[in-house]
Amino acid sequence: MDILKSLNWRYATKRMTGKKLPAQDLQTILDAIRLSASSYGLQPYNVIVIESEELRKQLQPLAYGQAQIVESSHVLVFAAWNSVDEAKVDEYLQAYSETTSMPLEKILAFGVKDRMMQAIVGMPQDEQYHWAAKQAFIALGTGIIAAASLEIYATPMEGFLPSKVDELLGLQERNLRSVALLALGYRDSANDFMEKAPKHRWSAEKLFIKI
Ligand SMILES: Cc1cc2nc3c(=O)[nH]c(=O)nc-3n(C[C@H](O)[C@H](O)[C@H](O)COP(=O)(O)O)c2cc1C
Repeated sequence: MDILKSLNWRYATKRMTGKKLPAQDLQTILDAIRLSASSYGLQPYNVIVIESEELRKQLQPLAYGQAQIVESSHVLVFAAWNSVDEAKVDEYLQAYSETTSMPLEKILAFGVKDRMMQAIVGMPQDEQYHWAAKQAFIALGTGIIAAASLEIYATPMEGFLPSKVDELLGLQERNLRSVALLALGYRDSANDFMEKAPKHRWSAEKLFIKI
């Protein structure tokens, strides 16, 4: 499918059938999320992959009873780092050095660590979290597009109680805060009232300001 066809095809699916995603398709969506762009390349978030029916049942009331939580195949929880400290920057730079075979000393000589320390670690903790959440949303978008390209139905969701979800999943202990969910599965045509809804977006004239 070409990109515009995929984006016109997809919609935030309200009802799903419970049918399971093939492992390969799930893996492709996760790989796409992993390849997502992020500021400084830090990817300051984690993605929790929930398949357990039992856990999704516990999650549903925390997401205002939304049906996709239990009718999907998997729910991905995008969780931003609550804070970013020097140890995380060091861990990232070390891993970057290993992947790229660029000696750490050389990376440090470019001043990358100094810039990350100043720009990210230097922010007040609350701003670190909001910055991390913005990066997590880019990954969410990547996941939505990847699912559409595979003709997998997906629902991005902010309609949930983050602090309750964090408690259920023990995210606080991991220095994480849930920011968005992505339910993945197959639509239930008989019951999905949004299936035939025309796609509404701002017109190009209104959206784009050409200067
Ligand atoms: C960050 C975000 C949060 C959303 N939260 C919900 C949600 O909680 N439940 C839901 O059914 N749809 C949710 N949506 C879907 C939007 O309502 C939907 O994307 C928008 O109306 C455009 O329609 P379309 O995606 O079906 O083309 C969310 C979308 C985004 C991007």
